[in-house]
Amino acid sequence: MITVSSLTDLRKARKKLCEPVGFVPTMGYLHEGHISLVRRAKSECRSVVVSIYVNPSQFGPHEDFEKYPRNLEGDIALLEKAGVDLLWTPTNACMYPPGYQTWIDVEKLSQPLEGALRPGHFRGVATIVAKLFNCVQPQKAYFGQKDAQQAAIICQMTEDLNFPIDIVVCPTVREKDGLAMSSRNCYLTQEQRSAAKVMVQALDLARQLFEQGERQTAPLVEIVQHTVEQQTGVILQYAACVDPKTFLPMDTITDQALLLIAIQTGDTRLIDNIELTVAPVAG
Ligand code: PAJ
Repeated sequence: MITVSSLTDLRKARKKLCEPVGFVPTMGYLHEGHISLVRRAKSECRSVVVSIYVNPSQFGPHEDFEKYPRNLEGDIALLEKAGVDLLWTPTNACMYPPGYQTWIDVEKLSQPLEGALRPGHFRGVATIVAKLFNCVQPQKAYFGQKDAQQAAIICQMTEDLNFPIDIVVCPTVREKDGLAMSSRNCYLTQEQRSAAKVMVQALDLARQLFEQGERQTAPLVEIVQHTVEQQTGVILQYAACVDPKTFLPMDTITDQALLLIAIQTGDTRLIDNIELTVAPVAG
């Protein structure tokens, strides 16, 4: 694996890669969720590029930018093992030089849910991903369903800005007990880690209700709210059942919906979601 930091070195190394190139943007502190994206990219592309960059512009002033976990050595070992061709670790000087002033705002999709709780977050995400796309010029780019709203925003931006890139959204990878893997899980104390399981339990209960035929979203959201309320040490930030394309709330599920949840335990925010799909009638 070639590791580069400057844009000049990235461009030189990029030119030598076999096409098509698959790209996995990350903020590092890699886990099996990230590696599943790399594996998918490897199975579909002749070369794989990964970026590691903790993007300051997507963190709010009181968020965890400073303490966001970093472990470049460990990350490099995982990426080598996964067979990545090129790792790019851009610098702040390259991404946001003094005088930087161009931003991308995916207007409607960035408003609800995560966007409402984290003002400016998706503007930072869309901007950095567009910049990374411009520099890496991949044919395909891989994102996780775990960050469903982010993935939808990237799909919309790619379409709106005519990037010639296929966006591939990959399933959420979970710990044995169901908790979605996240670089932020390392912040959790033992009690918080155990309490966080309530997210999966709540989503599972809602899924069961859906599978029993419930098509109104209110009872599905209520069961999530009620389940989380029972758990000490966890605050529900939102539970919502939305249209997977617009992220607007829906009352009745006729085809497909996303059920999303965000909780806070201690200082840590965690998110998760499941897809609810009405099975087509046989025949
Ligand atoms: P990061 O949180 O490092 O995640 C990088 C990619 O890994 C994202 O597409 C995310 O959805 C995916 N991912 C994280 N946990 C996952 C899991 N348990 N299962 C499957 N995929 C998972 O998301 C970001 O970084 C940043 O916002 C970024 C897109 C890199 C822009 O800065």
